[in-house]
Amino acid sequence: MFTANDFIPTSYSQSIESGNFQWSAPSNIALVKYWGKKDNQIPANPSVSFTLNNCKTITKLAFEKKHFDKLSVTDSKFSFDLLFEGKPKEAFKPKIQKFFERIEIYLPFLKDYHFTIDTENTFPHSSGIASSASGMAALAMNLMSLEKALNPAITDDYFHQKASLLARLGSGSACRSVKGEVVVWGNQANIEGSSDLFGVEFPYNIHENFKNYQDTILLVDKGEKQVSSTVGHDLMHDHPFAERRFAQAHENLDKLIAIFENGNLEEFIKIVESEALTLHAMMMTSMPYYILMKPNTLQIINAIWKFRNETQIPVCFTLDAGANVHVLYPNKNKETILQFIKDELVGFCQNGQYLCDEIGTGAMLL
Ligand code: DP6
Repeated sequence: MFTANDFIPTSYSQSIESGNFQWSAPSNIALVKYWGKKDNQIPANPSVSFTLNNCKTITKLAFEKKHFDKLSVTDSKFSFDLLFEGKPKEAFKPKIQKFFERIEIYLPFLKDYHFTIDTENTFPHSSGIASSASGMAALAMNLMSLEKALNPAITDDYFHQKASLLARLGSGSACRSVKGEVVVWGNQANIEGSSDLFGVEFPYNIHENFKNYQDTILLVDKGEKQVSSTVGHDLMHDHPFAERRFAQAHENLDKLIAIFENGNLEEFIKIVESEALTLHAMMMTSMPYYILMKPNTLQIINAIWKFRNETQIPVCFTLDAGANVHVLYPNKNKETILQFIKDELVGFCQNGQYLCDEIGTGAMLL
């Protein structure tokens, strides 16, 4: 079993003046949802997600060693510039500052460099798609590339585990955006290697039915959420249904192990849709209570149920912490479902907008 201390380095064999890396990291969509956490971004329950392919963040990290004047022994500040789509973006800096503070113990070289972080998303900003998962994962990969340059001896496993651990400290769900098509985060007795500290690639067989599984994201509401995920997680403390919900997540994840193996899409759908509605049920039963779904979210859900009943095509929905709907379906039904979306669901999307995505493999060095 790993502990967080395993990821605190003692020394580096190399020294590097300057350079840059560039990584892309995808978004991911949870099937069993992470909702509720303990200190240090430790999840209250395990989760599992499909890694996406098209919705991603591309981040270039340039670094240059600071040269301290002889009087000041150390420099006590993080030093970085942040560019979003090529332009300085002050608004993002506090989040990065906080991230650096949280990960400094794992990357003791952070204050030795000045960084320029140049980042962009492949999906339209203010689409209501959170970029925190892909963004934090892309930054974590770049930082690990720098650590690997300082210590070429680190293994691929260590690289990916630590990248995921760092990403987790930026945003919990980001730890599932590092490597693998199906990623588990959180201790689950029946999943070998699973950990609260980082996401791991689902270690067992995955049935062909899930190959190139499709996710079309219907943009129902692109506005700012009234309640952030961070606040939402916090409301799971003292939540009347919390303990039962956390136990249910374990049960659902266990059921998915068998479903991934046998490809039973009917059972898959039951779990995935139940998880989505449970997530929102937790929000509606928090104190204070709130609702992130919009009328069109429910219109879409009902239209999907009607279509599934009539056609027997295994299409289902999931939701993240917002009004948008992820429509999940097998690759072989792609044409029919895209037609169904155009005919019956686009009308419920803000400005008729939706994004086509599918399962991907994780972050990439560019
Ligand atoms: C509903 O990962 O955004 O998408 O750890 O506070 O950054 P923080 O929260 P975040 O929560 C995502 C919750 C979710 C479900 C999930 O992705 O598992």
